[in-house]
Amino acid sequence: MSDAPPFPYDAAAADAAERLTEAVRAVEAQPREKPALLPSLLAAQHHLGWLPRPAIERIAAWVRVPVSEVYATATAYSELRLERPDPLAWHVCTGVACDLAGAEVLLDAAPERARRIDCQFLCALAPVAVDPQERLHGRMTADGLRARIATATTGTAAETATEARA
Ligand code: FES
Repeated sequence: MSDAPPFPYDAAAADAAERLTEAVRAVEAQPREKPALLPSLLAAQHHLGWLPRPAIERIAAWVRVPVSEVYATATAYSELRLERPDPLAWHVCTGVACDLAGAEVLLDAAPERARRIDCQFLCALAPVAVDPQERLHGRMTADGLRARIATATTGTAAETATEARA
């Protein structure tokens, strides 16, 4: 699969229908049977960034299981998201290596944007932060994290202002 989309699916966004269509196409590339439930969920999330209700319903219909069973499966795996993630949120690994290397300092540096996440298996480069596009950043510093968040926030504000003027 290619890189994840930069921002999570938003039903109100201009490209919402197109992204949902892409996700449905990816789901319908899976076998139409119950064992394809998890791969279908992963495929949909890959295209949407999370699993909104329309995607859950399409998957349930495709693999022929009740919607409740799709939700049960989706809630059983921490990798699957049933809520739209904050497109500007960063995550800081709080596994043992990152904790020892200063994860708390990173969390304190950006309490409004940084959230905790389990080990990302990049322990040799602790402390590790994960950006909103799910890219890993090793040996992160508090100043580095603050600067990257500020850049992303400023960039988003500039894009919004440009869209508003158009
Ligand atoms: S403990 Fe942070 S990447 Fe493993």
